[in-house]
Amino acid sequence: MIQAAIFDLDGVIVDTAHYHFIAWKRLAKELGIDFTEKENEQLKGVSRMRSLEIILDLGNLRLSHEEMERLATKKNKWFVEYINAMKPDEIFPGVKGLIQEIRSNGIKVALASSSKNADTVLNLLGIKDYFDAIVDGTMIKHSKPDPEIFLLAAKKVNIPPADCLVFEDAEAGVEAAIAARMKCVGVGSTDQLGKADLVIEKTGDFKMEQLQILNLKS
Ligand code: BG6
Ligand code: MG
Repeated sequence: MIQAAIFDLDGVIVDTAHYHFIAWKRLAKELGIDFTEKENEQLKGVSRMRSLEIILDLGNLRLSHEEMERLATKKNKWFVEYINAMKPDEIFPGVKGLIQEIRSNGIKVALASSSKNADTVLNLLGIKDYFDAIVDGTMIKHSKPDPEIFLLAAKKVNIPPADCLVFEDAEAGVEAAIAARMKCVGVGSTDQLGKADLVIEKTGDFKMEQLQILNLKS
C-alpha cells in the first residue's frame, strides 16, 4: 500500500529544468560545444559536477578540477539569476492541489531533489510547508540514479521503501526509484521514462484513482 509520495522538484513541481538547460547551454556555447535539448535529458536528475562532466565529454574536453569548479560555479550563478526572477505562480498547474489531496488521504509527502538550490526554489514558490520531509543535494553523497536520495526521504517520513511512490521527470530518477524498490510515476514522455510503472504528461494530470491502480501492481 502506498503510504508516501516522493516528489522530485526540477521538472516535476516547476519548470526549473528549463532554467538548468539554458544555463548549461550558455556555458557549453562559451566552450564551443554544441548542446541540444535531447542531450540535456542525460543531465536531468544528476549532480551539478556530473552534468558538467557529461557536457565536457560531448566536446571531448579535459579540464582540471579547479577549472571545472569555476565553470560549475559560473553556471550556477546564471541559474540562480534565472530562478530569482521566478514567481510563485510558476508552479505547475494542479500540483499544490495534488499534494494536498494526497496528504488528506493520510499519505505522507516528501521532496527529493538532487539540487543544492532546492531550498531557494521552495522558498520562492512558498511551498515548503507542503512537505513532511525535504531531502536535497546538500544531504546526499550520490545523486540519482543512485537510490540514496529516495531511501533517505523514505526514512525521514518513516515509511518502508516498498510503500513509496516517486514522481520523476528524469531517466536517472526513474532508475533511482527502481533501485530503491519504489513505485514510480514518470512525468514526461514514454520514450524517456518507459521503465516507470506509469507515465503521465504533466504532474497535475495524476488522479487519486491511479494510486489505487498502482497499489494493485506487485
Ligand atoms: C536536479 C536537476 O534536480 O538537480 C539537474 O534535474 C541538476 O539538472 C541537479 O543538475 C543539481 O542541481 P544544482 O542546483 O545543485 O546545480
Ligand atoms: Mg527533475
